[in-house]
Amino acid sequence: MSDETKKTEAAPAEGAAPAPKKHKKAVVAVVIVAVLVVAGIGFNIWHEQPSFCQTMCHIENTYVSNYSQPQNSVGTDKYGNEVSNTNAMMAVLHSHTEASAKPEIVCVDCHVPNNFELAHDGMNYVTGNYVYPRNERSDDDLMKWDNKDGTQFCVNENCHAYLRGADGKVDRDKLEQSTQRMDFNPHSQHHEGIEMTCTECHKGHRASVLECTGCHDDVELPDGWVTKEQSDEIMAHMHEAA
Ligand code: HEC
Ligand code: HEC
Ligand code: HEC
Repeated sequence: MSDETKKTEAAPAEGAAPAPKKHKKAVVAVVIVAVLVVAGIGFNIWHEQPSFCQTMCHIENTYVSNYSQPQNSVGTDKYGNEVSNTNAMMAVLHSHTEASAKPEIVCVDCHVPNNFELAHDGMNYVTGNYVYPRNERSDDDLMKWDNKDGTQFCVNENCHAYLRGADGKVDRDKLEQSTQRMDFNPHSQHHEGIEMTCTECHKGHRASVLECTGCHDDVELPDGWVTKEQSDEIMAHMHEAA
């Protein structure tokens, strides 16, 4: 990913900043970090609300409005592209569900808060490096703060735990079983050695991508999903615009 590139682009001109300004920024950053850490201990109730995420950092509305769209209808992704069925975006698909014990899955059910991550993001926020939409994260990126395997973003105790193996990571055989009924089983372990992470296909805030279509073209796409080619197109334009 062009994470590096984007960070550099968005970074303030370091050389131009006089020392006192830097100092002030550092103080603000420290205060924010302190607030986040202290808050981290007690704010779980407010934090449960998507409006918390909106108030704190995602004020540009990108992710909250993306998440709040009606399910199973035409909608838009985090970049503003049309998505023919919002259920292809995992944040929307999971927002209301009868399949889990919890009827409503909020931001922090998926994005389990980690104070170091919050502090890191808070720091980027004050230094002006917090751009919208964010550079796209993989599940490995999202889990690195917890030192966990990327698949554990989806396969955790509260969510798809039934797909876990003894080591707490996804059990690829169980995963394959879960979609055995499909003509083209997207979780097939036919290609030994290809162990895709979940978010290579299942996208949170844009249309999910059936990566296998990079080579297999006689594959039926689930509603709203896109091919690898269409996905590459979306990402190419996203970078153009940025
Ligand atoms: C190669 C693309 C791809 C990858 C990688 C992938 N999935 Fe899927 N998955 C799909 C598709 C396609 C479906 C069917 C979606 C639909 O019908 O709407 C699906 C369906 C599911 C379902 C619903 C199963 C059911 O009972 O209907 C679950 C749960 C799931 N995936 C979890 C995972 C997890 C966890 C991972 C990572 C370990 C993962 N998937 C990786 C493509 C993928
Ligand atoms: C069902 C799980 C799920 C829910 C609920 C969810 N997200 Fe996400 N989120 C993801 C996944 C997966 C990604 C990885 C990038 C992608 O697929 O779009 C992600 C990525 C992100 C990112 C990183 C930047 C990026 O585009 O990759 C931000 C910020 C974010 N989500 C904010 C939110 C907010 C705010 C909410 C609630 C309004 C929310 N998410 C709800 C799954 C979820
Ligand atoms: C880099 C190209 C490539 C990608 C990506 C790819 N495949 Fe394949 N796949 C092939 C080729 C070539 C064959 C036929 C030759 C063979 O059987 O090895 C094949 C065969 C298969 C078969 C056996 C089909 C049959 O009729 O015997 C299955 C099942 C399969 N792939 C599933 C998948 C799934 C699921 C994905 C995505 C997770 C995927 N493939 C991604 C190239 C690819």
